[in-house]
Amino acid sequence: MAVTDEGFARGDGAFETIGVWQGRAFRLDDHLARLVVSLRAAGLEEPDAGQLRTEIDRVLDGASEDAALRIYVTASGTRVLTLGPQPSGRGVAHLAVHPAPWIRPLGTYGPAGAKTMSYLPNMAATRAAQRRGADDALLVALEGWVLEGPTFAILWVADGRLYAPPVSLGIVDSVTRRTLLELSDDEVIQEPRPLDHLLDAQEVLACSAIRGVVAVRRVGDQAFDAATPVCDRLAAALQQRRRA
Ligand SMILES: Cc1ncc(COP(=O)(O)O)c(C=O)c1O
Repeated sequence: MAVTDEGFARGDGAFETIGVWQGRAFRLDDHLARLVVSLRAAGLEEPDAGQLRTEIDRVLDGASEDAALRIYVTASGTRVLTLGPQPSGRGVAHLAVHPAPWIRPLGTYGPAGAKTMSYLPNMAATRAAQRRGADDALLVALEGWVLEGPTFAILWVADGRLYAPPVSLGIVDSVTRRTLLELSDDEVIQEPRPLDHLLDAQEVLACSAIRGVVAVRRVGDQAFDAATPVCDRLAAALQQRRRA
């Protein structure tokens, strides 16, 4: 990508990170559909779907390992596809609460929920959390609702039920989270909940395409149960689905 490309110069573009398991991209259609949603939300042109598929096939041709596939589409019309080792993933065991004024409800702010190439507020939140001694941030809306992490979705178990923030709050519509909702035996409650509700939880779960689902052990000063049966069950089911 040229340094004059709008993607580099202004972070003007959208992207996807897709888990590749034994050479096969997991839920590729969902990721490509979300890329289109992000591009439309940002008012950017969509690439030709057939052409993009051909490029993905070429990148994955001969792949047999676990990997991370990344797709970037910029305002200059540039497409960059990379296939590389899966990053070991930043820890999420200890999260620090961080306000996220840039995440607004769907319909109130154009790029709400989009995976744009302007992730600086997210990454700055991670750094701020790390300066406070945590591994990463738990983003909370101006209104006090629990949202997501800078690069992961959040769910929690309270009173034996699984909770997830609704996508309408303007969070990224996580493909991994969608898989967990399908894998969960019980109905998942998707309603806005304040931070106190999560702090009362037995288990807090973080998930993303590469991480899978992992247990959060502490948010601020609040520690959660050492046993994480729901997280363990979902992690095993997700792993099975990804390798099926
Ligand atoms: C802000 C944000 N929320 C949630 C997620 C998780 O989404 P997915 O499960 O599709 O990887 C990501 C992934 O990068 C993200 O950046």
